[in-house]
Amino acid sequence: MRVAIVSSEAAPFAKSGGLADMVGSLAAALGRRGLDVTLVLPAYRCVLARSDVAATGMAFPVPAAGGIEQVEVLEGVGGEGAAARFVRVDRFFDRDGLYGQGGTDYTDNADRFACFARAALALLARVDPPDVLHGHDWQTGLAVAYLRLQPERYPSLTSTRTLFTVHNVGYQGLFDAGVFPRLQVDSAHYWPNFEFYGNISYLKAGLSLADRLTTVSPSYAEEVKTAEQGCGLDGVFRARAGDLAGIMNGADYRVWDPDADAFIARRYSAAAPEGKHDCKRDLQQRLDLPPVDAPLAGMVARLVDQKGLDVLAGALDALLSRDMQIAVLGTGDRRHEQALTGFAERHSGRLAVRIGFDEELAHVIEAGSDLFLMPSRYEPSGLNQLYSLRYGTIPVVRATGGLRDSVVPCDPATGEGTGFLFGDYASEALVGAVDRALDCYRRPDAWRRLMANAMAQDFSVDRAAAQYAALYAQLVDRTD
Ligand code: ADP
Ligand code: GLC
Repeated sequence: MRVAIVSSEAAPFAKSGGLADMVGSLAAALGRRGLDVTLVLPAYRCVLARSDVAATGMAFPVPAAGGIEQVEVLEGVGGEGAAARFVRVDRFFDRDGLYGQGGTDYTDNADRFACFARAALALLARVDPPDVLHGHDWQTGLAVAYLRLQPERYPSLTSTRTLFTVHNVGYQGLFDAGVFPRLQVDSAHYWPNFEFYGNISYLKAGLSLADRLTTVSPSYAEEVKTAEQGCGLDGVFRARAGDLAGIMNGADYRVWDPDADAFIARRYSAAAPEGKHDCKRDLQQRLDLPPVDAPLAGMVARLVDQKGLDVLAGALDALLSRDMQIAVLGTGDRRHEQALTGFAERHSGRLAVRIGFDEELAHVIEAGSDLFLMPSRYEPSGLNQLYSLRYGTIPVVRATGGLRDSVVPCDPATGEGTGFLFGDYASEALVGAVDRALDCYRRPDAWRRLMANAMAQDFSVDRAAAQYAALYAQLVDRTD
């Protein structure tokens, strides 16, 4: 089985959030299962700077932005599992950001990701045509669409089937309808496959034209079919319900395992959990929190509305009146960054906030915290709660999407379950769930059992990879 994973992000090459972790670890896990996997990414500036990426000498022209663009192909060297190839168009990708800079999207993202789609297909058509092209999110919607709508341009890909995975319906690749003529697609396809309330949507194109669809958790596959969560695309999901499945993301335990983590103060495991205490002291010291034994709640997130920051803000005063500490790491919308920084000034010694993207500190927070907060408004899958379970850092999450699918409600008296869930999108509900967690924390036997349950969960990416491999096999066997 030959699979091409086409994506705008993949760890370790380019990352802004969970998409990169999921795609990078899935590609490697599929490779370990024996599938022949090629990852195709744009050659961003951060890729060009890597010593493990080299030129191949391959180059070809593709139609782009109404003209012709010359594409060079680079490849990753020394990686295990999956081959990585990068399409290089410096005019579009040799920039500081992936999608924008300073909180503003690049104004030519429509052209950038149309060019990426053309370049990825041209590359795959030339070398190793895949059995399955697996695209991710709006940035690859056009790769799926072009393959379906213009098969004559890619004769070596006529038997390639497409799977399109939606990681977040909140990001739709919406552009002015004036972009459409530059895509060089027959206007008959405008209304059914591209038009979205007067704009065009690359996500809609992928959703409408892929052979099969997945979301990144079973619950989210149901939620996107509702008006509340479908962000206007619920009708498309309902129309394609027969081709839609939810596969829960997995964690890469080679990167996220307290027993093997290079970033943390002392390694620990379910059998030997003592090191977690040293990790907590290390976290407190790094963030200037006093070295007390009060429970410490961590949070690592993109600071955007999706992550429930208004619910958190409304809960912080109440939470910090409890005997607890809170540590937050994130970057994103200015307004959320400023609000959190303001809270930290008022509650210094109890609340520590670090604004920025810091992989090492993310690990240190996972290892050093007792609780992990995810009050998300919606959460297609979520990876941080999976990491938290592995680190014995008890998730306190809103019961939505992948959070609902991965955290089992805990009875504070006995410690049965793996975390604490709340339903209402409201600050009082978050405070209530934290109070239940604190109640359990005060019962050492129950807390120990809870930590052991959490650490025993298996949300490995290998499980997710097995499900994707089964789906690829079904797709290729289909005779229609
Ligand atoms: P999302 O993809 O919606 O951002 P996930 O929970 O799936 O949410 O994944 C988030 C990933 O990004 C995790 O690996 C998390 O540790 C990482 N991350 C998010 N913000 C930061 C940050 N400021 N610094 C370091 N890592 C971060
Ligand atoms: C998106 C979602 C997140 C998911 C990630 C990887 O960014 O917001 O819930 O875990 O994609 O699939």
